[in-house]
Amino acid sequence: MQYHTKEMSNKVFIFDLDGVIVDTAKYHYLAWKNLANELGFEFTEKQNEQLKGVSRVRSLEILLNLGKVELSEDKKRTLLNEKNQEYLEYVHKMTSDEILPGIQVALNFLDDNNIKYALGSASKNAPLILKKVGLFDRFTAIVDGNDVSKAKPDPEVFLIAAKKLNKTPNYCIVIEDARAGIQAANNAQMTSVGIGDKKVLSQANYILDNTEMFTVDFIKKLIA
Ligand code: BG6
Ligand code: MG
Repeated sequence: MQYHTKEMSNKVFIFDLDGVIVDTAKYHYLAWKNLANELGFEFTEKQNEQLKGVSRVRSLEILLNLGKVELSEDKKRTLLNEKNQEYLEYVHKMTSDEILPGIQVALNFLDDNNIKYALGSASKNAPLILKKVGLFDRFTAIVDGNDVSKAKPDPEVFLIAAKKLNKTPNYCIVIEDARAGIQAANNAQMTSVGIGDKKVLSQANYILDNTEMFTVDFIKKLIA
């Protein structure tokens, strides 16, 4: 069995946060939708796919583009702040109940087998969210929107995480729900696991319908 233990510890995992660890993607959507409605246009769930994994500033640009609205930099700053305040109202109510199905079991398995994992998220709210759901202390490293200068699909966030885990990219397995995130993982030359719509995540090395399918058996297959 020693052979197994050794094999298992070679690989490391990098988890996205929103839509992978917790279902905050729905809160982001609600806050952006409200903003769009205030500006006088609709914003659909399908359009929202374009915002997943994308930084807050870039998200607003995409949204304004969809609504064909042009605003001053000052007004944009105000709206970004408003959106985040509304989003935080949802976040402040979060508890560990909002950890997505299967994730606790997966993290327990990784801990039990000394397999390290980091967070690689575009969100500047990541530390707060992890604290709210009681997972802040579980990650070997947390790399978030405050640490990067280039947003996904740039590989920067995952490359920093790999460095903090002391591993080269070929040992890293990224779990993502966003197209931009899968592209970032692929750009980093890491193994990519997409969670969600097969059409959106077609570039991933593996695609799972939901986090429940991120089982211990699947993890064992990944690290074999
Ligand atoms: C990503 C989300 O994780 O974080 C995006 O998928 C979001 O939708 C981005 O825009 C930035 O998040 P925040 O919390 O810094 O506004
Ligand atoms: Mg995500």
